[in-house]
Amino acid sequence: MQYMSSREVRSRYLQFFAENGHTIVPSSSLVPDNDPTLIFTSAGMVQFKDTFLGNEKRPYNRATSSQKIMRAGGKHNDLENVGPSIRHHTFFEMLGNFSFGDYFKRGAIEFAWKLLTENFGLDPNRLWPTIYLDDDESFHLWQEVAGIPAHRITRRGKEDNFWSMGDTGPCGPNSEIYWDFHPELGENGDNPATDEDRFFEIWNLVFMQFDQPGDGSLVPLERPGVDTGMGLERMSVVMQGVHSDYETDLFVPIMQRIRELVGHTADEMQQHIVSYRVLADHGRAATFLIGDGVMPSNEWRGYVLRRIMRRAMVHGRRVGLEGPFLGELAKVVIELMGDVYPDIVARK
Ligand code: SER
Repeated sequence: MQYMSSREVRSRYLQFFAENGHTIVPSSSLVPDNDPTLIFTSAGMVQFKDTFLGNEKRPYNRATSSQKIMRAGGKHNDLENVGPSIRHHTFFEMLGNFSFGDYFKRGAIEFAWKLLTENFGLDPNRLWPTIYLDDDESFHLWQEVAGIPAHRITRRGKEDNFWSMGDTGPCGPNSEIYWDFHPELGENGDNPATDEDRFFEIWNLVFMQFDQPGDGSLVPLERPGVDTGMGLERMSVVMQGVHSDYETDLFVPIMQRIRELVGHTADEMQQHIVSYRVLADHGRAATFLIGDGVMPSNEWRGYVLRRIMRRAMVHGRRVGLEGPFLGELAKVVIELMGDVYPDIVARK
């Protein structure tokens, strides 16, 4: 496996699916325009929600995107994990491929396997899928399509392997793909359900099969589809041979800028690493939220932005930062990602 920049991971993903009949669709805003119940765009499928439900027709039945995601406030909320965790973010990018009544489980698994092993060059022996409890079809497909032996396919319950965007909307069983950080430990009985440090989730394939009207029932969709999500930050960890998201090229320039502003040595930075992570994550989140027109306020989306900015300021003070340092971080973020997401540049 060769080092790959995050920029290349993003473009190879989109290119691969474009070559396989998918239309590249630009990221939608972090503020969902088709769903007043959803605080932020929390998954790549949000802009396609009505397409999955059959309420909206699009000129294509296969799509791929690199979507801006915010998971702060609402059902998917990682705000408090940011800092202590090397993997959780408020803002991140999700690469996805979508089928609207076109291919289903077999197609999704075939594409995923081909991209990971042939295009990204990952060692097939280090990839471990999970499936939903009774999803025997996926169990067989992973063996047939990818040649993965049955004992390396883990069955998991609703909490891990049944995906929904909220209490309502399209949902279905999912199959996740994990990367083994420590193949040298051998097959010692560990699997993605038993060891979260060893096994690292990189991709979630959701088999959209039902609608939830909100009364607890599941209504089968007329045309089942596929919704996948791969965290760009996570895939970059794998392709760059590092362990923490903050060690990838998506974060290093921001971490370095913080260090310059504070004047820390490398050791001092490590002593304050939690605050650095909060600052880097929240610096990205605030830049992207403001780019999408959210302003700090007392309620709803603006309130979440205010909390993010406040939390950044608390941690900024902890490392000795004063003044409008978030603007300095925004400049780095714009430099890194402004060409991919022009909205953040427009608000500069
Ligand atoms: N919607 C699923 C997720 O967010 C797959 O894209 O994980």
